[in-house]
Amino acid sequence: MDRLTKEQLISDVKENNDIVAVVSEYVNLKQRGRSFTGLCPFHSEKTPSFTVSREKQLFHCFGCGAGGDVITFIMRIENLTFGAALRFLAERAGIQLPAFQLSPTGRKHREERERLYRLNAFAAAFYQKILWQTKTGEKAVAYLEARGITRATAEKFGLGYAPPQWTALVGLFRKKGIALTEAEKAGLVCGGGDGFYDRFRDRLLFPITNPRGQIIGFGGRLLGDGQPKYLNSPETLVYQKGRSLYGLAEAREGIRRRGQVIVVEGYMDVLQAHQQGIDEVVASSGTALTPEQVRLLKRYSDRVLIAYDADAAGQAATIRGLDLLAAAGVQVRVVRLPVGEDPDSLLRKEGAAGFRRYIAESVDLFTFKLEFILAKEDVTTPAGKARAVQRVFSLLTQVKDGILRETYLKQTAAVVGVSETTIYDQWRIHLYNLRKNKQRLDIKHNQRHTNGIAPAAQQPPAVLAGEKELLLLERQLLRGCLQEKDYFARIKRTLIEVKFSDPHYDALRHQLVAGDFSGAWPPPAGAFPPETRALYLELLAENEMNPLPVDVEGCLKRLRQRQLTDEIRRLQQEVAVSLDGEAEGVSPSKLQENLALLNELHKKLREEFPTFSGLI
Ligand code: GTP
Ligand code: MN
Repeated sequence: MDRLTKEQLISDVKENNDIVAVVSEYVNLKQRGRSFTGLCPFHSEKTPSFTVSREKQLFHCFGCGAGGDVITFIMRIENLTFGAALRFLAERAGIQLPAFQLSPTGRKHREERERLYRLNAFAAAFYQKILWQTKTGEKAVAYLEARGITRATAEKFGLGYAPPQWTALVGLFRKKGIALTEAEKAGLVCGGGDGFYDRFRDRLLFPITNPRGQIIGFGGRLLGDGQPKYLNSPETLVYQKGRSLYGLAEAREGIRRRGQVIVVEGYMDVLQAHQQGIDEVVASSGTALTPEQVRLLKRYSDRVLIAYDADAAGQAATIRGLDLLAAAGVQVRVVRLPVGEDPDSLLRKEGAAGFRRYIAESVDLFTFKLEFILAKEDVTTPAGKARAVQRVFSLLTQVKDGILRETYLKQTAAVVGVSETTIYDQWRIHLYNLRKNKQRLDIKHNQRHTNGIAPAAQQPPAVLAGEKELLLLERQLLRGCLQEKDYFARIKRTLIEVKFSDPHYDALRHQLVAGDFSGAWPPPAGAFPPETRALYLELLAENEMNPLPVDVEGCLKRLRQRQLTDEIRRLQQEVAVSLDGEAEGVSPSKLQENLALLNELHKKLREEFPTFSGLI
């Protein structure tokens, strides 16, 4: 699709999706003067600071700063890319999308998927009827009651009961003239030929949905003891076990509101949690988190708490899943449940407040691993102490933040029962050995690759304290520049030199200083590529609704100060390490150079910020 028709499409979509109507599907809006207000769906608040303007077709939250047009809104609330949000809104307005039309096979697949959703929905309705309206269902109703699940909760999650007969659902499908081969593809019936029979018999059924709430499969629990306790749908075109999270459709709102997601193991844990108002809970359904589930979780929140029972939490497979999450940039915390309890049993004993206390005492992934190692080794014996310390060290090499590392070292010293001095000494020796090994490997590598180019060191993103403040400064600065061409002109030269920490903000900064914008200010959104356009629109919306001028010079100064002090800290650390004599690769001249640079930076800092005393 060429540019013109794409722009045309965007404006068509916007014209046909009134922002007030669209937002109203998610937020309870009240008219106030010329705009509409409600509780912001993007952060937790008690008084409405979320505003929608029909006139301008924009939204803005004075609380969290979210803002933009109707497409931005759908991108954020439905967690979609720009293109997907466009498609979503086009479908809502019944607009044909030429470029997005599916290929014939694509269309066939989509139709097939939709058939499976319909069959699943049909089966779910049947199972619900058996549960609530027949004598056969009574024992399942009693089971739910015994497990403390109310009818309202069971209905919210669409629970049903599969009767004990072999052909209850098969019979119904036959009667309705529904092809059993299709039902087999949905995983509802088995057998084939003339011998079709129901997959689920005498089980309490939990419909499993995708994030949009369409039923993709079922989990079925025996009402008593026996094997297997749970029987799930087989893998189908729409259901892949490792790709779904049970309860996500129901938890989406809670996750957004609370800014976190709690992952539990089982269906029952999800039900009990939601019933007690802990509504940001989903289940991984008894497997370690897969890369697909990690991606899914990350789409909904960047803070994930794991609440598995104590045995499962410590399993290697579980930890690998958590490492995947952490590697994806998600903040991972582990809720430590008392031995023998799962969230369901704990909630029934101690209630929501009790469970929230355990959540409040969750620990970060590193601390969890640390405790786990220390609990496994017998730290009363010298050999046990040494082993524990070595195992902690291999963990610690992944911690790049110096302050955190120091805290963990102290923690380890205390738990293992050695002095802090000893731990630091040992840690230096550990680093020294690591470097030696690495050098040996590098030499070998270079020998093999005769061009002699060593692989670029992979720099993990540094987690800096006060990173939020930095982002806020960068954002304010951009927003300020867009308010008045004058502001922009005043700081443009300096803006060329500073580099923003956030890649999106930095891209927009770069486009602003590099672009030739002789016309109206702020420039038209079309002047920016899709990667930054959404951010750009967001900033414009923020300015529209929040017209107080930004103190651009002040922001710039604070940003400059941050960058100087960060650079000084980094150099200081480097110098400290080389002075310790462990960094073999650092030549004396390099050390001299660093010291000189450090002096210069200190001088700059004193000159530019004579009153600043934050760095001792
Ligand atoms: P209740 O015993 O009903 O409280 O279930 P639970 O969720 O506490 O069970 P458990 O902790 O044993 O298992 C956690 C999750 O693992 C379940 O919710 C299922 O998703 C899954 N699971 C457990 N047992 C089986 C099984 O036998 N087969 C399959 N496919 N999944 C199971
Ligand atoms: Mn349980």
